[in-house]
Amino acid sequence: MKIIAGNWKMNGTRAALENMLHALRDIVTNNRVILCVPFTMLGARSENVALGAQDVSTHDHGAFTGEVSAPMIADTGAKYVIVGHSERRMYHGETNDIVRQKAAAAIASGLTPIICVGETMDEKQAGKTMAIIESGVRESVPTDARNVIVAYEPRWAIGAGLTPTATEIAAAHTLIANTLADMGLDGTPVLYGASVKGANAAEIMSIAHVDGVLVGGASLKPDDFIPIITSVK
Ligand code: 13P
Repeated sequence: MKIIAGNWKMNGTRAALENMLHALRDIVTNNRVILCVPFTMLGARSENVALGAQDVSTHDHGAFTGEVSAPMIADTGAKYVIVGHSERRMYHGETNDIVRQKAAAAIASGLTPIICVGETMDEKQAGKTMAIIESGVRESVPTDARNVIVAYEPRWAIGAGLTPTATEIAAAHTLIANTLADMGLDGTPVLYGASVKGANAAEIMSIAHVDGVLVGGASLKPDDFIPIITSVK
């Protein structure tokens, strides 16, 4: 069983989501399928696909115009929320500290946070990949977390059609699994994300400690997403 999560980012409409859920309705799979969609599309119903949000406030309620809280997300029936995606870190200045607070808020409302970590191209070229990944996990994942997912997303590879080598993915995922075990969180699923598509999904998910994928562009259309879901048992 793998976890196949889509991240629609700021794309789609309610009709496009209905179309996707309809297309996924009769897919036979043991994998857990999740779609993280814009807030406006939460509330759609599906028997076999869980929905998630893409960000959450650190606060539960109050004078925070434009924010959406974990209890509100849970109230829609959503089960997941992505926190600390590289685009939130890059465009909204989210630090590991903020990401950990968001993850804790999600957990407190019964949501499963999908906590993203990964290195930029500058950090990669400076030989800091492993240090950034390890500090990302140690500082972004709440230590008392029991129900979380971690996603390794090499930031230089997102939306670029680039992927690390299988050896690089294995090294990153082994480090994340070992770090989580050291934090008392062994068994936490670790997803790989960045330029996943039907053609590379099975190979990526055969790598040690890759428990699934977090898919951006290729999760938007059924013809692209379904081959990823059915690429592994
Ligand atoms: P792409 O699959 O479009 O590279 O995006 C990856 C991503 O950011 C998923 O969260």
